[in-house]
Amino acid sequence: EDLPTTIFVFGASGDLAKKKTFPALFHLFQHKLLPKRTRIIGYARSNLSREDFFERVKSHLGADAGNDDIAAFLGLCLYVRGRYDVPDDYVALRKVAEGQESALGAEGASRRVRVYYMALPPSVFVDVATQIRHTVYDDACTNRIVIEKPFGHDLESSRQLSKDISALFAENEVFRIDHYLGKEMVKNIPTLRFANVFYEAVWNRNYIANVQITFKEPFGTEGRGGYFDEFGIIRDVVQNHLLQVLSIVAMNQPRSLGAEDVRDRKTEVLRSILPIQLEDTLLGQYVASADGSKPGYKDDDTVPKDSTTATFAQCVLHIDNDRWCGVPWVIKAGKALDEAKMLIRIQFRDMPNALFPSLARNELVIQVSPKESVYIKTIVKEPGLSTNLAMSELDLSYHKRYQDIHIPDAYATLILDVLNGDHSNFVRSDELDEAWRIFTPLLHQIEAEKTAPLPYAYGSRGPEGADEFARKRAGYKRTGLEYHWQAPV
Ligand code: BG6
Repeated sequence: EDLPTTIFVFGASGDLAKKKTFPALFHLFQHKLLPKRTRIIGYARSNLSREDFFERVKSHLGADAGNDDIAAFLGLCLYVRGRYDVPDDYVALRKVAEGQESALGAEGASRRVRVYYMALPPSVFVDVATQIRHTVYDDACTNRIVIEKPFGHDLESSRQLSKDISALFAENEVFRIDHYLGKEMVKNIPTLRFANVFYEAVWNRNYIANVQITFKEPFGTEGRGGYFDEFGIIRDVVQNHLLQVLSIVAMNQPRSLGAEDVRDRKTEVLRSILPIQLEDTLLGQYVASADGSKPGYKDDDTVPKDSTTATFAQCVLHIDNDRWCGVPWVIKAGKALDEAKMLIRIQFRDMPNALFPSLARNELVIQVSPKESVYIKTIVKEPGLSTNLAMSELDLSYHKRYQDIHIPDAYATLILDVLNGDHSNFVRSDELDEAWRIFTPLLHQIEAEKTAPLPYAYGSRGPEGADEFARKRAGYKRTGLEYHWQAPV
């Protein structure tokens, strides 16, 4: 049902709003997926004229966007300047919203939706949420608040934040974004697993030898060093994005696709994971590239010269339940590596008979980015007169199979979920709590002991010993180097 909807973007002049929130809203607008009566109100401290604000919003809408579309979209947008801690400014904001709502012909408050999108730094987050609750929130409307990481920096601070938020908003009004949950291939995992008979049949310890979840970025913290140094790679991507992906790969079948059923199953997985030990972890920090053309992490002026913050982390963890007992999961994430890639690699056990020599193990690879694909490394008879074995693959590459389909940015699908009130792809507070429980002891130990990360060169595959770690700790058998999967053209 198309209810009059006001989307407030707090922190509207900042980077996140400019690069993600507004482009995602624009994408939905272009595809006619915003409710017909929508207004978008940007709120921030900057003294911006309407034109300045529009210029900012426009800067990331995509070069191919038609001018008419952009003009129509901007027609839905307003900017309100206000301070984050001054109640009167929020009163003014509420009046603007009410004015818009009545102009849209809102049929009474119970038939309105207000979405508060917090594109804000954590330091002002609770203050703004409090002001919203007291001044802008309307009991009679449907209210939804969207928040982004960091959700605290350890278990205790995250619990405090959850407590602060729950004093203001009900859990079903809160949408915690983990943008990995909006990625096409991550959303596809439950479908692959539970809509096809042959995946689920082998999805357990009897057939799966190990699982790897890997995130690689080919650039360093350029420009974000100061921010990054406080967090490190574990807080930046492992504790959230990669653990979320893990829980979907590992979960038991939910009773339904309803948000609470799905989140119950994911949380169950996390509950079965013991806190990660330092011995099960390999940490790295990048140094300048071999040819000196790319700087090391500590060459960044905003990074302390004695920083021991990890820009690479690999850990092995175990899920202590019937399905996964004994199967090692290797999670690896690194900045300034040799390529951009995010994938899930499920390696199967060796064939239990010796009819054929063992060439390599089967692997199911779900590539989340850059090019969405699912492929199964499969052994075939070498085509032709030969009877040798050859490594090949069953390949579903989206850019080939679905050439005309545009896959939207994760933020667009997540904001659409918010508008529909669907929580399935958002992190519940107990889930978040479990994720911090798993990583907090390790993070505290690393910080207390200033554990020295291993150096690796910018643009390399990571610290020496990383491959050996996966082999030794997880029994991962690398396919011969002569085989290399290539995205079909
Ligand atoms: C963010 C991290 O959450 O995710 C960044 O803070 C990282 O450091 C980014 O680069 C990766 O997201 P994506 O969508 O580019 O894979």
